[in-house]
Amino acid sequence: MKNKIEVLISEEKLQARIKELAEEIKKDYNDSEVLFCSVLKGAIFFAVDLMKNYDGDALVDFVRVSSYDGENSTGKIILKIPLKEENIKDKNVVLIEDIVDTGRTFNYLVEYVKKMNPKSVKTCVMLDKPSRRVVPFKADYVGFEIEDLFVIGYGLDYDEKYRNLPYIGYINEK
Ligand code: IMP
Ligand code: MG
Repeated sequence: MKNKIEVLISEEKLQARIKELAEEIKKDYNDSEVLFCSVLKGAIFFAVDLMKNYDGDALVDFVRVSSYDGENSTGKIILKIPLKEENIKDKNVVLIEDIVDTGRTFNYLVEYVKKMNPKSVKTCVMLDKPSRRVVPFKADYVGFEIEDLFVIGYGLDYDEKYRNLPYIGYINEK
């Protein structure tokens, strides 16, 4: 039988929470300009919806890293599209990621951004799997905490597939 995709977080729930997150971020930065830096590829769906809901001055940038091979983290972070220091220097950077799992990617990225002398750096993540941490990490803004489950959709992939689902789901193998 073909594996069935179950819905974990519906499109409606995602969109409602994203609106709240955008308002929370706006309260913190108020009239200061923010540079939303989204991690490719997984975070783009979340980042676009977050930025569309953000009612303030904002700049947009992207960085690409990869650390995953199927379901297994290799533990090694590979920087595939770097940032430019001229775009980061003196900016209030908000790094946007799809999910924090072991914490390795965000730990790496925060240190990487800090080397470019931003005014400040904060982190925003759609999903957090705290039980999976290998290195300590706490994001400043978190959409939803989830249990240890491999999820797909809304940017998240399994071997590059399923990113285009409008909800967060998981594959029911039963
Ligand atoms: P970390 O470095 O272990 O925190 O991993 C973060 C990256 O692993 C994320 O950007 C995702 O690309 C990937 N990842 C972790 N958990 C999942 C999952 O449940 N589904 C899909 N990708 C995941
Ligand atoms: Mg990713």
